[in-house]
Amino acid sequence: MTEVVHTPRVFSGIQPSGGLTLGNYLGAIKRFVGMQNQGIETIYCMVDLHAITVWQDPEKLRHATRELCAGYIAAGLDAEKSILFNQSQVAAHAELGWIFSCVARMGWLNRMTQFKDKAGKNREKVSVGLYSYPTLMAADILLYHATHVPVGEDQKQHVELTRDIAAKFNHDYKVDFFPITEPVIEGEATRVMSLRDGSKKMSKSDPSDKSRINMTDDADTIAGKIRKAKTDADALPSEVEGLKGRPEAKNLISIYASLSDTTMANVLSDVGGKQFSEFKPMLADLAVSKLSPIADEMARLMQEPDEIDAILRKGADKARAIADPILAQTKDILGMVR
Ligand code: TYM
Repeated sequence: MTEVVHTPRVFSGIQPSGGLTLGNYLGAIKRFVGMQNQGIETIYCMVDLHAITVWQDPEKLRHATRELCAGYIAAGLDAEKSILFNQSQVAAHAELGWIFSCVARMGWLNRMTQFKDKAGKNREKVSVGLYSYPTLMAADILLYHATHVPVGEDQKQHVELTRDIAAKFNHDYKVDFFPITEPVIEGEATRVMSLRDGSKKMSKSDPSDKSRINMTDDADTIAGKIRKAKTDADALPSEVEGLKGRPEAKNLISIYASLSDTTMANVLSDVGGKQFSEFKPMLADLAVSKLSPIADEMARLMQEPDEIDAILRKGADKARAIADPILAQTKDILGMVR
C-alpha cells in the first residue's frame, strides 16, 4: 500500500451555544487567525449540530450562530481566506458521523472525560448525541482530510479519538484514506481558568458570570471582573517556577502573555515583585485594549444578519465542494452503491 501524503489543511470548530469567552478566544480563535495568516488552507466551522446535544432555544441558537460568525470575523478571520460556515448546512457531516459511529468502539467513548464531566450524575437523562458526539467531531475533521486541528487543551482527547477512528477505518478497509490528524495545542493560554477558581476551566456554562470574560463584555465589565478575580496574597514571582501551586496567579499571567503575544517568562521578568493591586490594572488595560475593538466590531456586524447569513451560505458551498467527494469516496470504500 503506498502511503498517501495529505496536503496541510486546518479544520476547527466552536459550538454556538451561548456566548464566546476569553477561553474560546485565546485557546482557539486567536490561533485560528494565526494559522489563516500563515497561508495554510483553513476551514472554521460553527458546529450547530454539536450545540443541540443539549437543548437549545431555536431563536438563541440562530443568534449564537450569527454572533459566533461575527466573532470569527471581528477577531480577524476573513471569509475570502478561510472557509467559514455552520455545520448543519453541510449534510455530509451527519452522514460521515453515522459511519464513524460504526467504526468507533463503545470502550473508546466510555473513556471520554468531557462526557463524564458534562453528564455528571445525570447519565440516564442526557441525550444519546452528547455521548456519541466525539464521532461527529471526528467526521467534522476527517470529512476535509484535515491534517491539523487547533484547539484548547480540553479537546485533546477528542482529537486523539479522531486519530483512532481514522487508523481503524484505514486498517479495517485496507486503505490509506483518512489522515492521522495532529492536534495543535500551542501558546500560553491553552487552558484559561475561571477567574473565581483557578482549578476550574473558564466556561460559558459556569453559573457565575464573574468567572469568565465574555467577548461581548464592555470595558467596565472586563475591568471589574479582573479587579475582582481571585488571587493569593503574595507578590508575583520573577520566574515561571514561582507560579507552581499558585493557579490563579498562573492564570492571570498566562492571559497577559497570550494577549500580548509573548511568553509567561517574559511577562514575569517585567512584573515580578509587583503586587496584584498593581498588576491587575495593567491586565485590565491590556484586556480592554485587545478585546473592546473586537466587541465593537461584533456588535456592528450583528446589525447586518443578512450579510452574515450570506457569508455562511457561501462558506457552506465551498465546504461542500471539498466534503462531498470525500464522502463519496468513503462510500465507495465501504461498498455502498451510488
Ligand atoms: P467548544 O465550543 O467547547 O470550544 C471551542 C474551542 O475553544 C477552546 N476552549 C478553551 N481554550 C482554552 N481555555 C478555555 N477555558 C477554553 N474553553 C474553550 C476549546 O478547546 C475549543 O478549541 N468539540 C468542540 C467543538 C468541535 C470541534 C470540531 C473542534 C466540534 N467539532 C472539530 C475542532 C475540530 C467543542 O465543544 O469546543
